[in-house]
Amino acid sequence: MNCRSRIHLLSVALMAAATVSAAEHPASLKEAFAAHFPIGAAINRSQATGAPGRRNAELLTQDIALVKAQFNQVTAENDMKWQLIHPREGAEGYDFGPADAFVNFALSHRMEIVGHTLVWHSQTPNWVFAGTNPPPVATNAPLPAAVGTNAVTTNGPGRGRFGPGLVGGFGRYNGPRASREELLQRMRDHIHTVVGRYRGRVKVWDVVNEALADGGPENVLRNSLWLEIIGPDFIAKAFQYAHEADPEAILRYNDYGLENPVKIRKLITLIRSLQEQKVPLHAIGTQAHLNVSTAGFEQMDRSLTELATLGLPIHVTELDINSAQGGQRGTGADVAANAAATQGGLVSDADQKLADAYAGVFRAFLKHQDSVRMVTLWGVNDAVSWRANGRPLLFDGENRPKPAFDAVIREAAAAAAR
Ligand code: G3I
Repeated sequence: MNCRSRIHLLSVALMAAATVSAAEHPASLKEAFAAHFPIGAAINRSQATGAPGRRNAELLTQDIALVKAQFNQVTAENDMKWQLIHPREGAEGYDFGPADAFVNFALSHRMEIVGHTLVWHSQTPNWVFAGTNPPPVATNAPLPAAVGTNAVTTNGPGRGRFGPGLVGGFGRYNGPRASREELLQRMRDHIHTVVGRYRGRVKVWDVVNEALADGGPENVLRNSLWLEIIGPDFIAKAFQYAHEADPEAILRYNDYGLENPVKIRKLITLIRSLQEQKVPLHAIGTQAHLNVSTAGFEQMDRSLTELATLGLPIHVTELDINSAQGGQRGTGADVAANAAATQGGLVSDADQKLADAYAGVFRAFLKHQDSVRMVTLWGVNDAVSWRANGRPLLFDGENRPKPAFDAVIREAAAAAAR
């Protein structure tokens, strides 16, 4: 073989090595953590249905191959949210197509399924809250006696997370309201229909999402229309309805920012109160939208140690670690604040910092493996992440494993060697 052919062969080999995608990568997350917990990803509609959207057909094929190769659990990133699965009122108002495709995808690849989410202040259509009762005057509106509530102005009318006046459920609904009884009836119908449809197939549900207030210790519950119209027992009622619809399902309360000592106290107050009322609540979901400057073993160990005092299984539900400079001062999960949180380019030495942060949080998951029963990454790769600019995941936009992936696999190997 002449020199030129050798060089050609060498360059082909190098190119092949460079384009080894994680779908073909010898290590897989699901095998590495098989002895510890299922490991999953939130998947979007294209990945569940195979219909190209933001990604072209070739990249989508790779994305799907990656999901199959790496994960044994999936969560629907959006398609089971009220706005998408039940956009119109009444029994005819459901759009089950994408959620059905998601469930079928998971079942055909033997993946555990998480349903996300039944009751949330966001992505709920306006009709759910509409009725004939005049809305309270915003600034003076008395709030129901709750475990504690946000000041009314913190989430005032027209200032929902998708901005003012948005029609279609993303803004906060401002018009005449349903009564407590009407809203409870709608909640019950929705939960019974959705959970009932997937009974026995969706094993875990995020029943109530993000009901805790941000900010200081004085307010425990977020000021939402659920809270204002029904009162603080909307949470207990949602769990009760979900349990009626599928007594075998694992029902979880899911929230973000549980690395923050103030927020975690609120969570403990809420969950203890629900436990005292014998509410069927079976797991805590800690979202873990982290940032690379603060994420690591210490932060996660502290949070899991406190969460474990509740005596419930802990599911890490939406893990990602933002490497964008704009997002280093918080662990919020608000999509409206996301643009700012992913600006400014990446922090210096981002790949290495991300690898260190992921290694630390997985070391903490392994330390708390008696409590940590599931770990879900919020997205498949950086390109499809809700905070793509922050490059927060284990695979890059072409599905190549990043140094963070190798670091996580090394943590599993270290645990196996102990
Ligand atoms: O479906 C419409 C599509 O028809 C339209 O063409 C397109 C135009 O922008 O928007 C599409 O809806 C988007 C939807 O995702 C589906 O892609 C919304 O604009 C977009 O805002 C929405 O964002 C989702 C966000 O929740 C909404 O709150 C993110 O994908 C999703 O990752 C994010 O996930 C949340 C968890 O559910 C709860 N915890 C926090 C986490 C991050 O915010």
